[in-house]
Amino acid sequence: MKLTDDERAMLDGKQGPARQKAMDLLVRYGEALGAEDFVDTNNVCTSVGATTPFLRDFAAKAGGLDAAFSEFNLDSSEAVQIPKAKAFSCQLIQGLDPDHWQEQGVAPATRALHEVNESFSAGIGLQMMNTCTPYLVGNVPVKGEHCAWMESSAVAYCNSVLGGRTNTEGRESSSAAMLTGKIPNWGLHLDENRFGTHLVEVDAAVEDIMDWGLLGYYLGEAILDGLPVLVRRGKVPDLPRLKHFGAAAATSGGIEMYHIVGVTPEAPTLQEAFGGRKPRATLRYGRAERELAYRNLNAHATDTKVDFVMLGCPHSSLEQVWNAAKLLEGKRLHSGVNLWIFTPRSIREVADRNGYTKIITDAGARLMSDTCPALGQVMPKGVKVAATDSAKQTHYLPSIMGVQTWFGSTEDCVRAAITGRWEGALR
Ligand code: F3S
Repeated sequence: MKLTDDERAMLDGKQGPARQKAMDLLVRYGEALGAEDFVDTNNVCTSVGATTPFLRDFAAKAGGLDAAFSEFNLDSSEAVQIPKAKAFSCQLIQGLDPDHWQEQGVAPATRALHEVNESFSAGIGLQMMNTCTPYLVGNVPVKGEHCAWMESSAVAYCNSVLGGRTNTEGRESSSAAMLTGKIPNWGLHLDENRFGTHLVEVDAAVEDIMDWGLLGYYLGEAILDGLPVLVRRGKVPDLPRLKHFGAAAATSGGIEMYHIVGVTPEAPTLQEAFGGRKPRATLRYGRAERELAYRNLNAHATDTKVDFVMLGCPHSSLEQVWNAAKLLEGKRLHSGVNLWIFTPRSIREVADRNGYTKIITDAGARLMSDTCPALGQVMPKGVKVAATDSAKQTHYLPSIMGVQTWFGSTEDCVRAAITGRWEGALR
């Protein structure tokens, strides 16, 4: 790879051993990908810490979090001291909610380690957002901004809705970017890879977030790896709808970017969305495709007795928390059913001030932050049947947590939490 003087200096160790290892990792990574050079980035979303039992034990044996970071974030078996972040970098979702860890079934030792992690991560200059939706709480890349983000749902949102430029990075490459302010210039950083590959004619009703999740889930399965361009009629989808759409498409397939003609910033026209090229294929999303996606998502659930409902995957916007509070106001959850709603911590603070947290808590539900059931592997004890309005969470819960999971609208999910029964249907 062609290196600038600054990059060469880091690789030669002139800025210390950690940045040297980070640069070495990025050069190996870039060469494997066929990148010719780097782009500067001042916008990283990564994951630092050791709350899983494996990493926790490793950190304890190896002598602390510098050693764990060296091994698992920099691919270095030699422990080096980790300096301050060079690029503006945000912490993604973590393993627990420090305010609700006991209800989440987290062991006291893990909670204690979480605190050590938080102080290590904040100490190296990581912004402690602890969410998979950093774009909801202040990290909003502008069009054309080069980023190094992990988390597939956030990547899809960054590229498609904001026009930021990122590939789906891993823990190692994003951590190396944090220390160097560099990321290989390949994939979605380059203009030629941001044009559409598949034309999608949307003929079915796509209105609420359930519909957008169904459409995303269908397209991810049908396209797997490509860049869909949607042509549709109807209202302009808002932030929660696009958040659920991208998360679903990145779950059933590997979609990192999409265009919606007339809506997303790099698709003012069909012609521009495809960069003047011909689509590789044309797909139609009609009633049959919508029904198929719904059936596929609900294929693993048979028991209608629901004991856990989850909302907020990806983490809820303030509007979604407000909507949940409206649905729950004056109601009470069915005995034995838990309803957990996830949102970034700073949105939860607004929800506290607005009284939404109280409404939600008075109904017997909980507003949580910092983690989620599938990735944090936190759930109420003894759950057998879950329900959620997120295609992504529905996809992961059966395999990661071994529970049957129903997928439906937010209203269907809240109703299930109140009645204890799944009565959702495709309308
Ligand atoms: Fe976020 Fe967890 Fe969903 S990380 S996107 S809430 S699976």
